[in-house]
Amino acid sequence: MADGWTRVAATADVAEGKCLGVRVGTKDVAIFHLPGGEFHATDNICTHEYALLTEGWMEKGCIECPLHAAQFDIRTGKAMSAPADTDLAVYQIKVEAGDLLVKL
Ligand code: FES
Repeated sequence: MADGWTRVAATADVAEGKCLGVRVGTKDVAIFHLPGGEFHATDNICTHEYALLTEGWMEKGCIECPLHAAQFDIRTGKAMSAPADTDLAVYQIKVEAGDLLVKL
């Protein structure tokens, strides 16, 4: 899109408490729907080695990597536990007419 926003899914595609991996251009992006209705978007590739975070586990506002169990804060991307020591990139996300739009 010309304004930088890309539609990635319908809100109904990501149930509360769940996440979804999407591709935006060449990037793997993770969309999270936290309990309470907040949506967040981060890089979907772990900063430790190669693993898709959306194949991990969401708990208490964090995503746990399926490979070596590093945890990242979904809201800020902050690496919360070893073995990851680099934060995830986070992206702007908005809801518009039932769609989720992300800006990289
Ligand atoms: S690849 Fe994610 S913690 Fe190692």
